[in-house]
Amino acid sequence: MVRRIWMVIPLLLVAFSVAADPPKNLKVLPQTITKEELKRTMREQAKALDVDCDYCHDMPDMDSDKLDKKLIAREMMKMTAEINTRWIKGKPKHPVTCQTCHRGKAVPE
Ligand code: HEC
Ligand code: HEC
Repeated sequence: MVRRIWMVIPLLLVAFSVAADPPKNLKVLPQTITKEELKRTMREQAKALDVDCDYCHDMPDMDSDKLDKKLIAREMMKMTAEINTRWIKGKPKHPVTCQTCHRGKAVPE
Protein backbone atom coordinates (compact mmCIF):
# COMPACT_ATOMS: atom_id res chain seq x y z
CA MET A 1 0.00 0.00 0.00
CA VAL A 2 2.72 2.43 0.98
CA ARG A 3 4.60 1.58 -2.17
CA ARG A 4 1.57 2.16 -4.32
CA ILE A 5 1.20 5.71 -3.08
CA TRP A 6 4.71 6.46 -4.30
CA MET A 7 3.73 5.24 -7.72
CA VAL A 8 0.49 7.20 -7.83
CA ILE A 9 1.86 10.58 -6.72
CA PRO A 10 4.16 11.11 -9.72
CA LEU A 11 1.38 10.06 -12.08
CA LEU A 12 -0.97 12.61 -10.51
CA LEU A 13 1.67 15.32 -10.81
CA VAL A 14 2.13 14.56 -14.50
CA ALA A 15 -1.62 14.52 -15.07
CA PHE A 16 -2.07 17.91 -13.35
CA SER A 17 0.76 19.60 -15.22
CA VAL A 18 -0.56 18.36 -18.56
CA ALA A 19 -4.11 19.39 -17.68
CA ALA A 20 -2.92 22.86 -16.61
CA ASP A 21 -1.03 23.24 -19.88
CA PRO A 22 -3.46 24.23 -22.66
CA PRO A 23 -4.59 27.87 -22.42
CA LYS A 24 -8.18 28.19 -21.20
CA ASN A 25 -9.20 31.69 -22.15
CA LEU A 26 -7.81 32.75 -25.52
CA LYS A 27 -10.14 35.03 -27.47
CA VAL A 28 -7.66 36.58 -29.89
CA LEU A 29 -4.66 34.29 -30.18
CA PRO A 30 -5.24 30.98 -32.01
CA GLN A 31 -6.32 28.05 -29.82
CA THR A 32 -3.63 26.00 -31.54
CA ILE A 33 -0.80 28.28 -30.37
CA THR A 34 2.13 26.37 -28.91
CA LYS A 35 3.29 26.97 -25.37
CA GLU A 36 6.57 28.43 -26.68
CA GLU A 37 4.80 30.78 -29.09
CA LEU A 38 2.43 31.98 -26.34
CA LYS A 39 5.34 32.59 -24.00
CA ARG A 40 7.24 34.48 -26.68
CA THR A 41 4.21 36.65 -27.54
CA MET A 42 3.64 37.50 -23.89
CA ARG A 43 7.29 38.35 -23.27
CA GLU A 44 7.29 40.62 -26.34
CA GLN A 45 4.19 42.45 -25.16
CA ALA A 46 5.58 42.91 -21.66
CA LYS A 47 8.85 44.20 -23.12
CA ALA A 48 7.13 46.60 -25.55
CA LEU A 49 5.25 48.20 -22.64
CA ASP A 50 8.11 47.74 -20.15
CA VAL A 51 5.78 46.06 -17.65
CA ASP A 52 5.74 42.72 -15.85
CA CYS A 53 3.18 39.97 -16.38
CA ASP A 54 1.18 41.18 -13.37
CA TYR A 55 0.38 44.45 -15.13
CA CYS A 56 -2.24 42.53 -17.12
CA HIS A 57 -2.56 39.28 -15.19
CA ASP A 58 -4.16 38.59 -11.82
CA MET A 59 -1.29 36.21 -11.03
CA PRO A 60 -1.09 33.29 -10.82
CA ASP A 61 -4.46 32.98 -12.63
CA MET A 62 -3.25 33.77 -16.15
CA ASP A 63 -6.64 32.89 -17.64
CA SER A 64 -8.52 35.34 -15.40
CA ASP A 65 -9.99 38.48 -17.05
CA LYS A 66 -10.14 40.40 -13.77
CA LEU A 67 -7.69 43.17 -14.67
CA ASP A 68 -8.77 45.98 -17.02
CA LYS A 69 -5.33 46.15 -18.60
CA LYS A 70 -5.74 42.62 -19.92
CA LEU A 71 -9.02 43.58 -21.56
CA ILE A 72 -7.41 46.67 -23.10
CA ALA A 73 -4.48 44.53 -24.25
CA ARG A 74 -6.89 42.13 -25.97
CA GLU A 75 -8.42 45.01 -27.96
CA MET A 76 -4.91 46.26 -28.74
CA MET A 77 -3.97 42.80 -30.03
CA LYS A 78 -7.03 42.80 -32.31
CA MET A 79 -6.25 46.30 -33.51
CA THR A 80 -2.61 45.43 -34.23
CA ALA A 81 -3.60 42.29 -36.15
CA GLU A 82 -6.16 44.28 -38.12
CA ILE A 83 -3.62 46.95 -39.09
CA ASN A 84 -1.34 44.23 -40.44
CA THR A 85 -3.99 42.25 -42.31
CA ARG A 86 -6.52 44.86 -43.40
CA TRP A 87 -4.56 48.03 -43.91
CA ILE A 88 -1.30 46.71 -45.33
CA LYS A 89 -1.46 44.95 -48.69
CA GLY A 90 0.02 41.43 -48.70
CA LYS A 91 2.25 40.12 -45.94
CA PRO A 92 3.85 43.15 -44.30
CA LYS A 93 7.66 43.28 -44.48
CA HIS A 94 7.71 45.37 -41.34
CA PRO A 95 4.57 44.44 -39.39
CA VAL A 96 3.17 46.83 -36.81
CA THR A 97 3.72 45.49 -33.30
CA CYS A 98 3.01 46.77 -29.80
CA GLN A 99 6.53 48.19 -29.87
CA THR A 100 5.74 50.38 -32.91
CA CYS A 101 3.57 52.65 -30.75
CA HIS A 102 4.49 51.83 -27.18
CA ARG A 103 8.29 51.92 -27.38
CA GLY A 104 8.77 50.78 -23.81
CA LYS A 105 5.90 52.82 -22.29
CA ALA A 106 2.62 51.41 -20.94
CA VAL A 107 0.94 54.58 -22.24
CA PRO A 108 2.57 55.70 -25.49
CA GLU A 109 3.96 59.22 -25.58
C1 HEC B 1 -0.06 43.96 -21.87
C2 HEC B 1 -0.83 42.94 -21.18
C3 HEC B 1 -0.19 41.59 -20.96
C4 HEC B 1 1.03 41.32 -20.40
C5 HEC B 1 2.09 42.31 -19.91
C6 HEC B 1 1.14 39.89 -20.33
N1 HEC B 1 0.01 39.30 -20.83
FE1 HEC B 1 -0.39 37.30 -20.89
N2 HEC B 1 -2.19 37.68 -21.80
C7 HEC B 1 -2.65 38.93 -22.13
C8 HEC B 1 -3.90 38.81 -22.86
C9 HEC B 1 -4.74 39.92 -23.42
C10 HEC B 1 -4.17 37.42 -22.95
C11 HEC B 1 -5.36 36.74 -23.63
C12 HEC B 1 -5.09 36.61 -25.11
C13 HEC B 1 -6.30 36.13 -25.89
O1 HEC B 1 -7.43 36.34 -25.45
O2 HEC B 1 -6.11 35.53 -26.96
C14 HEC B 1 -3.08 36.74 -22.25
C15 HEC B 1 -2.98 35.36 -22.08
C16 HEC B 1 -1.96 34.72 -21.40
C17 HEC B 1 -1.92 33.29 -21.12
C18 HEC B 1 -2.99 32.27 -21.47
C19 HEC B 1 -3.90 32.10 -20.26
C20 HEC B 1 -5.10 31.18 -20.53
O3 HEC B 1 -5.13 30.07 -19.96
O4 HEC B 1 -5.99 31.59 -21.29
C21 HEC B 1 -0.74 33.05 -20.45
C22 HEC B 1 -0.23 31.70 -19.94
C23 HEC B 1 -0.07 34.32 -20.31
N3 HEC B 1 -0.84 35.31 -20.90
C24 HEC B 1 1.15 34.48 -19.70
C25 HEC B 1 1.82 35.69 -19.57
C26 HEC B 1 3.14 35.83 -19.00
C27 HEC B 1 3.99 34.68 -18.47
C28 HEC B 1 3.45 37.16 -19.03
C29 HEC B 1 4.74 37.84 -18.61
C30 HEC B 1 5.94 37.42 -19.32
C31 HEC B 1 2.31 37.85 -19.64
N4 HEC B 1 1.36 36.92 -19.95
C32 HEC B 1 2.25 39.22 -19.83
C33 HEC B 1 -2.07 40.15 -21.80
C34 HEC B 1 -0.83 40.31 -21.23
C1 HEC C 1 -1.23 52.07 -33.31
C2 HEC C 1 -0.61 52.31 -32.01
C3 HEC C 1 -0.70 51.21 -30.96
C4 HEC C 1 -0.39 49.88 -31.10
C5 HEC C 1 0.08 49.13 -32.33
C6 HEC C 1 -0.60 49.29 -29.78
N1 HEC C 1 -1.03 50.22 -28.90
FE1 HEC C 1 -1.53 49.92 -26.95
N2 HEC C 1 -2.04 51.89 -26.76
C7 HEC C 1 -1.93 52.83 -27.76
C8 HEC C 1 -2.39 54.12 -27.25
C9 HEC C 1 -2.42 55.44 -28.03
C10 HEC C 1 -2.76 53.90 -25.90
C11 HEC C 1 -3.31 54.93 -24.91
C12 HEC C 1 -4.81 55.03 -25.10
C13 HEC C 1 -5.42 56.04 -24.16
O1 HEC C 1 -5.03 57.20 -24.19
O2 HEC C 1 -6.28 55.62 -23.36
C14 HEC C 1 -2.54 52.49 -25.63
C15 HEC C 1 -2.82 51.87 -24.42
C16 HEC C 1 -2.56 50.55 -24.12
C17 HEC C 1 -2.80 49.93 -22.85
C18 HEC C 1 -3.36 50.61 -21.59
C19 HEC C 1 -2.21 51.21 -20.84
C20 HEC C 1 -2.61 51.89 -19.55
O3 HEC C 1 -1.92 51.68 -18.54
O4 HEC C 1 -3.64 52.59 -19.56
C21 HEC C 1 -2.39 48.62 -22.94
C22 HEC C 1 -2.42 47.57 -21.85
C23 HEC C 1 -1.91 48.44 -24.30
N3 HEC C 1 -2.05 49.62 -24.98
C24 HEC C 1 -1.43 47.26 -24.80
C25 HEC C 1 -0.98 47.07 -26.10
C26 HEC C 1 -0.49 45.81 -26.62
C27 HEC C 1 -0.37 44.55 -25.82
C28 HEC C 1 -0.21 46.01 -27.93
C29 HEC C 1 0.29 44.99 -28.94
C30 HEC C 1 -0.53 43.82 -29.11
C31 HEC C 1 -0.52 47.39 -28.24
N4 HEC C 1 -0.97 48.00 -27.11
C32 HEC C 1 -0.38 47.96 -29.50
C33 HEC C 1 -1.48 52.64 -29.03
C34 HEC C 1 -1.10 51.42 -29.58
